[in-house]
Amino acid sequence: MAVIGIMSAMHEELSAVLAQMSDEQCVSVAGRDFWLGHWHGHAVVAVLSRIGKVSAATTATVLLERFHVDTLVFTGVAGGLGSGVRVGDVVVATGLVQHDMDASPLFPRHEVPLYGRARFETDMGLVAQLASATRQVLGDARRHLGTETFTQFELSQAQMHLGLVISGDRFVATSMESRALSQALPDALAVEMEGAAVAQVCHDYQVPFAAVRTISDRADDEAHTDFSRFIREVASRYSLAILSQWLTS
Ligand code: ADE
Repeated sequence: MAVIGIMSAMHEELSAVLAQMSDEQCVSVAGRDFWLGHWHGHAVVAVLSRIGKVSAATTATVLLERFHVDTLVFTGVAGGLGSGVRVGDVVVATGLVQHDMDASPLFPRHEVPLYGRARFETDMGLVAQLASATRQVLGDARRHLGTETFTQFELSQAQMHLGLVISGDRFVATSMESRALSQALPDALAVEMEGAAVAQVCHDYQVPFAAVRTISDRADDEAHTDFSRFIREVASRYSLAILSQWLTS
């Protein structure tokens, strides 16, 4: 049976999913707890990577080497960068770039040295399935995500976007920095701290990868308060609703 790896950076992003994996067994490797079990009839290994690219890369490598996952999906939150990308929207990544990679002038800015590329693509089949699951969840947001948060985050207008997600070892919390990122990478829809590292590891191992990110903040001067509230109150409901929909479709 194919094994699906599910990864988030923080407990708040995955708690509702972990609560659903009834037969789970915990195996600790490299200081992380890997939860092995079944969900909707699929063999699943769920894990929290902690925050940042190195933490995420280590965790992805253990998932691949030790737990032999056949597919890896990252679920969590991100800061919105694209002009129409608002809090409560969902971005399904079609590709990822490390925005803080810069070995210029030896290599072009953002290019990962010796890979000949800056951008790592996600798996087109997985993207199509997750985009379809996300559309269904957002189309029925009140039922899936809960009424009390519905008004607060204007989920009635939540949209799904497909495109570039960028990652770096910085929480982007000023309008000045988010403007600079948008100038450097104009196609970027959202910014987070892990995805591009996991995409690179999955590229190395030739394992299909996808990332689904809910927008918790706009990576601006209010980012830290918006992020904290969103992650506390709604983030894991999105992960639960979208991944549940995906695995049962
Ligand atoms: N994840 C969620 N919001 C973020 C932000 N503003 N910067 C980096 N990672 C994030």
